[in-house]
Amino acid sequence: FENGLGQTPPMGWNSWNHFGCDINESLIRETADAMVSTGLAALGYKYINLDDCWAELNRDCKGNMVPNASTFPSGIKALAHYVHRKGLKLGIYSDAGNQTCSKRMPGSLGHEEQDAKTFASWGVDYLKYDNCENNGINVKIRYPPMSEALLKTGRPIFFSMCEWGWEDPATWARSVGNSWRTTGDIEDNWISMTSIADANDRWASYAGPGGWNDPDMLEVGNGGMTTEEYRAHFSIWALAKAPLLVGCDIRAMDNTTYELLSNPEVIAVNQDKLGVQGKKVQPNNNDGLEVWAGPLHGNKVAVVLWNRSSSNATVTASWSDIGLEPGTVVHARDLWEHSTQTLVSGEISAELDSHACKMYVLTPRKC
Ligand code: DGJ
Repeated sequence: FENGLGQTPPMGWNSWNHFGCDINESLIRETADAMVSTGLAALGYKYINLDDCWAELNRDCKGNMVPNASTFPSGIKALAHYVHRKGLKLGIYSDAGNQTCSKRMPGSLGHEEQDAKTFASWGVDYLKYDNCENNGINVKIRYPPMSEALLKTGRPIFFSMCEWGWEDPATWARSVGNSWRTTGDIEDNWISMTSIADANDRWASYAGPGGWNDPDMLEVGNGGMTTEEYRAHFSIWALAKAPLLVGCDIRAMDNTTYELLSNPEVIAVNQDKLGVQGKKVQPNNNDGLEVWAGPLHGNKVAVVLWNRSSSNATVTASWSDIGLEPGTVVHARDLWEHSTQTLVSGEISAELDSHACKMYVLTPRKC
């Protein structure tokens, strides 16, 4: 998709996972404020994205979508202006169907050019495009018209396809959008998060600068998982070059949530310029002990050791698992402990509590 965007996975916030339809312009402005004041914006979280329910149920007499008069009385253009003045970008949401999933606002099917022009005229920077009320028309037919309409506006607008993995999008969506959902919706629990991580992993080889697999937005901070489960969620999403779209109320984050979302070393893995999706390299032999890894620029390797079993265990990655020559001496940076060790043994190993992970960047020692 030739709009030049998404050279690294997008980072930001989206209203859906925490607020659902309960959104309004003060919430969005306060979220933009918090993004800057907490320091998350400076770490790369740039997009402030509206999800479903921002518009009136009906189009106006000229067929234009209109912001909901009671919840967005100042309009989206004013909101975009506010967000831009903070150095951030604004995302909006529509649907490749007659209505969105909430059925509270119109979709853009058959109105692609008109809506793309409206969004561009408001100064929108990102469009999430959902998949409800679609008349049973194939996704491969419904998504390209919006992609073309966005390009035609001349405004760079990140195109996030929310087609729930229909028709194996990794195999065709790179020419249509900047990211594509590989699965249905995430829920704020361990089973959902781990099964989505696995489903998304199948398509790893298709991701790269300009087009990313999207295993859905982050649940970190929403309360349904333990800290170690959220740490694993964030680590694996970062390693898998997933969009890092925060889904909690960042105005009221606790310290633990902030510590997870703001780890600059984990973010750097996600934003690495090589843009290769890390994947599960040591399959789950039904013991729940997993190694995920992927290359980074400069011959470095990112590794996650992950204990998905229900008891404490030691997880080990050997150099052959993760693409290093045997005998390579590495400096292993522990991205959560912020400590470095030198390894000569040809493997890296950690004792992990149930559901916990460790994340490292390994740098081969130069001789
Ligand atoms: C389904 C999408 O997959 C979700 O992420 C969210 O956008 C909802 N629709 C909104 O109705």
